[in-house]
This record gives sequence, structure tokens and C-alpha cells, in this order.
Amino acid sequence: MKIAPKSFLTLKKGNRIVGGLEAIKHSWPWVVRIYFGYTGCGGTIIDDNTVVTAAHCCRGYDTRLDRIKVVVGEHSTAVWDLGQFTIGVRGMHIHPEYHSVTFKNDICVLQTNDMHLRLRHTAAPACLPPSSWHPDVGTRCYAAGWGRMDLNKPSVVLQEVDLDVISDERCEQTPNAGTFIPGQMFCAGHLSGGKDACQGDSGGPLICVKDDQPILVGVTSWGLGCGRPNSPGVWTKVTTYTKWIRTLMSNS
Ligand code: ARG
Repeated sequence: MKIAPKSFLTLKKGNRIVGGLEAIKHSWPWVVRIYFGYTGCGGTIIDDNTVVTAAHCCRGYDTRLDRIKVVVGEHSTAVWDLGQFTIGVRGMHIHPEYHSVTFKNDICVLQTNDMHLRLRHTAAPACLPPSSWHPDVGTRCYAAGWGRMDLNKPSVVLQEVDLDVISDERCEQTPNAGTFIPGQMFCAGHLSGGKDACQGDSGGPLICVKDDQPILVGVTSWGLGCGRPNSPGVWTKVTTYTKWIRTLMSNS
């Protein structure tokens, strides 16, 4: 695949998503861009008509589904990419115990119109983790999104970054302690700082690879700043919610 000259610059500068690089086009076919009104979030396709995102992105839109736009097969937000399409939302399930102040249970399931994934070259689902399976501490996983690359600028093209799974014990020795809820959330990143998700990446995935399959292990939720040393990002721990998500899928 041809690499545009632009991505060489990216590689040199290396300060995207916060510390990541431009993803190869359509190498993250499960990642979607979701517009809630004008606010952009990320999301993950898990089957033909289901997308998982963050509850704090969905909040306030349950009665305004027509204001939500899910863009699939997106790479650059500045141009209409070949293979990109928009899909409507039919239903929304914010976790019933989501709490907007504490960010508890920050997960939301969107029921979309049929994406006909089998016929698509630019879209595919990620797997849900087996319930109660979570990658070992230190596993290298990957996040992607169009969020801020530094303090102000969102990215025009999809960025990806490698982040390691951090133990709950270690996470509680960071400024995340107090807000961080083990079991419902987990930390991922680099304690040295430099690589992280950031504002605008919320709702998007942290993907870990298991048996050669992409597994949706985390939903980008919150962080104190972006990429600061000793202040890793916090993700919703998807394995805790696998059963809840599967129930919604079989009911739809
Ligand atoms: N809450 C943010 C959003 O709405 C995501 C923040 C993730 N921050 C981080 N440092 N990992 O986009």
C-alpha cells in the first residue's frame, strides 16, 4: 500500500493521537466516527447492527437519535474516502448504571441500521472479549481515533498508538486514584508518558489481539490531561459488560 508523503512527516514528528502515527487506511475497519450533533466520538462495530461507544458520548441523545451520524470506513475527516458510508441509529442503550460525575459504567450500545458487513471492504466487526477474560498486565494493545494530537488540534486522519495494559494496583498509585474504579475501568498507556488517547478519542476502542483476533478490550473513557508521565488513560473494562451487551444484541 502506498504511503502518502504526509505520513513520513507524521512519523518524524510522532506527536499524534498523542504519540501515535497515522493508521494505514482501513486497517481499523471496526472503528467508526460518531457525530452526536457536532461533537465527535469514536466507536467500535461488533456486528452488522451494533456499535459500542462511551456513555458520556451518548448522553443527552437518547431522544434525538436523528442527530447521530455514524460514519463507517472513515480515514480522513476532510475528504469523502472511497468505501466510506454513513449509517443511521435506531436505538440507544446507555448503561443503566452510568454515572456522569464518576464516569462509572461509561459504556453505550447503539443499534444501527444494517451495515451489510459481508459486502464491505472497509468495514468489519471486532470481537467482544469472552466474559471475565481480560489481557494480562503488560500486554501491548492499540487505540485509535481522530482526537487531539496535543493540547488543541484534533487529527484529520485516523491515528493509532500502542498502549500497554497497566495493573489496577499500579493505576491506583497515579493521580487517577480516587476516581478509578477497578473492575469497571482499567488503565493503559506508558507511565513514562508521551503516548495516550485524548479528547475526541472517547468511545473508540482499545484493541488487544488474542488468537489472531482483534478483541474490543476497552472503550476510551477519561484521563487527566493526555500523555502525562505517571498519568495513564482510563478505559471502560469491556469484559465486565460482555453479558449485558450480548443480551442487547440478541434482543434487537
Ligand atoms: N473523555 C475524552 C473524550 O471525550 C477521552 C479522554 C481520554 N483521555 C486520555 N488521556 N486517555 O474524548
